[in-house]
Amino acid sequence: MAVSYKDLGLVNTKELFKKATEGKYAIPAFNFNNMEQMQAIVQACVETKSPVILQVSGGARKYANQTLLRYMAQGAVEYAKELGYNIPIVLHLDHGDTFELCQSCIEYGFSSVMIDGSHHSYEENVALTRKVVEYAHKYDVTVEGELGVLAGIEDDVVAEHHTYTQPEEVQDFVSKTGVDSLAISIGTSHGANKFKPEQCTRNAEGILIPPPLRFDILEAIEKKIPGFPIVLHGSSSVPQQYVKTINDNGGKLKDTIGIPEDELRRASKSAVCKINIDSDGRLAMTASIRENFIQHPEWFDPRQYLGPAREELKKLYAHKTVNVLGSAGKA
Ligand code: G3H
Ligand code: 13P
Ligand code: ZN
Repeated sequence: MAVSYKDLGLVNTKELFKKATEGKYAIPAFNFNNMEQMQAIVQACVETKSPVILQVSGGARKYANQTLLRYMAQGAVEYAKELGYNIPIVLHLDHGDTFELCQSCIEYGFSSVMIDGSHHSYEENVALTRKVVEYAHKYDVTVEGELGVLAGIEDDVVAEHHTYTQPEEVQDFVSKTGVDSLAISIGTSHGANKFKPEQCTRNAEGILIPPPLRFDILEAIEKKIPGFPIVLHGSSSVPQQYVKTINDNGGKLKDTIGIPEDELRRASKSAVCKINIDSDGRLAMTASIRENFIQHPEWFDPRQYLGPAREELKKLYAHKTVNVLGSAGKA
């Protein structure tokens, strides 16, 4: 049953991160769990000639099914070629919480896994991450570890406050574990509810600006482990037009502000070479579907509302690769 990602046409993150660090851009890691999301990601990344990380959480894997995912990832590679450009595609486990889950993903064709031991003690995080790295590297699968805790929701785990990554720990963690990349906490958070308006200040144009990310911590980390690939989670920008469309069409989202794209542009030019985006895709898809449900109450063929939702997603992903992460044209 076990399959190597290499037989599916996928790649690991090694080469991609090396080029992204040297070229001062970031690879998009877009979460998916269904066909339309996968199609939109591949279409956008082929059109903009961007490498891409197809990212699946443990919950998404349960939702989609492990066997289907293996064929979907293989399908994504073939689909990209059919669309006319053979972009590098990684299949990555997002927030793996156990050794067994990472092992199973590797057996089912993942080319990269994250082991998120950030909720454990430092020593336990090191031991768990080391164990996953030893296993994964036997199969040439790359591993992302995490130090520091982001506020917000990661699968079922909720953290109220950030615990910023301590720059003094990163060198020891990287050398003891052998990880290929490191996710850090510098003020981003998971989910659509990142900052409340009252936490923000207005700029000259009247736009709400959240508290800035801790670029000082990022810089201190870069000094400790020069050139080492850094990952930013919780990097959705929560486009306000989607929040408005959702709420104008019967939705009930709270007022919420995401990570400004300017900050992501700045991060992409640093050692940050992977940027995780999930919530923005959820918002785009929901906004489009809600709008169409109100405008076309007679529709009942899922293709009628999933087709436009897929188009909206594609626009969003292309915008990220071209205008935010700088990965367009790098495939
Ligand atoms: O960081 C978490 C990702 O957005 C995945 O979310 O566990 O609901 O699939 P999920
Ligand atoms: P967002 O919720 O900001 O999209 O973050 C996604 C993420 O970090 C997935 O690991
Ligand atoms: Zn995350």
